[in-house]
Amino acid sequence: MHRFMRSRLRLASLSDYAIMHAFCFPEQPYRGDGGWLNMEKNVNTVAQAKTPEGETKLTPELTRFIEEWKARPGSLVMVLHRVQQTFGYIPRAVAFEIAKQLDQPLARIYGVITFYNFFRLKKPGRNLIQVCLGTACYLRGGDDVLRELEETLGISINSTTPDGEFSIEVVRCLGCCGLAPVMVINGEVYGKVETANLPNILAKYRERKD
Ligand code: FES
Repeated sequence: MHRFMRSRLRLASLSDYAIMHAFCFPEQPYRGDGGWLNMEKNVNTVAQAKTPEGETKLTPELTRFIEEWKARPGSLVMVLHRVQQTFGYIPRAVAFEIAKQLDQPLARIYGVITFYNFFRLKKPGRNLIQVCLGTACYLRGGDDVLRELEETLGISINSTTPDGEFSIEVVRCLGCCGLAPVMVINGEVYGKVETANLPNILAKYRERKD
């Protein structure tokens, strides 16, 4: 299958993002073009939070969050979003605990996780690269950026380098089409990306150990 088509099949639609946004950020208007008013805050970053139990248990903060939200409409999406913000993905053990605390069948939890492409079931690398393949970025070479990253890192979309340093995801229109092609690494936005600059950009994140 053509790479672009293959990529696009993995993407959530804009309406998915809009619904997600309405649930998760009711106070923050959705721009309607796939972007958020404050992308830094909302682009999914790899928080890498750790618990003494090893990242697979609900933290006390998450437990409080569920208690606070469980009776409200849209609580499941909200809870899953917070869990992913905390761990970078939805750990299996945490999905079980969410089901218990929200008193919902596990199948429903996984139904929502798999419905929204936004949610991850696998832990991403320390540095999460999101390449935009929305129309403007695709037309301006987003696919070349993606191909170069895949070749340089030796991985494909939705996978992680063996050393756990980098993961690649494809996203659709981040709302800054004037900067196309765009990619985001750990929430930092790179516009007008040229493939020749990618080695330097990647090196910066390899060296950064915060
Ligand atoms: S298509 Fe709009 S930011 Fe990439």
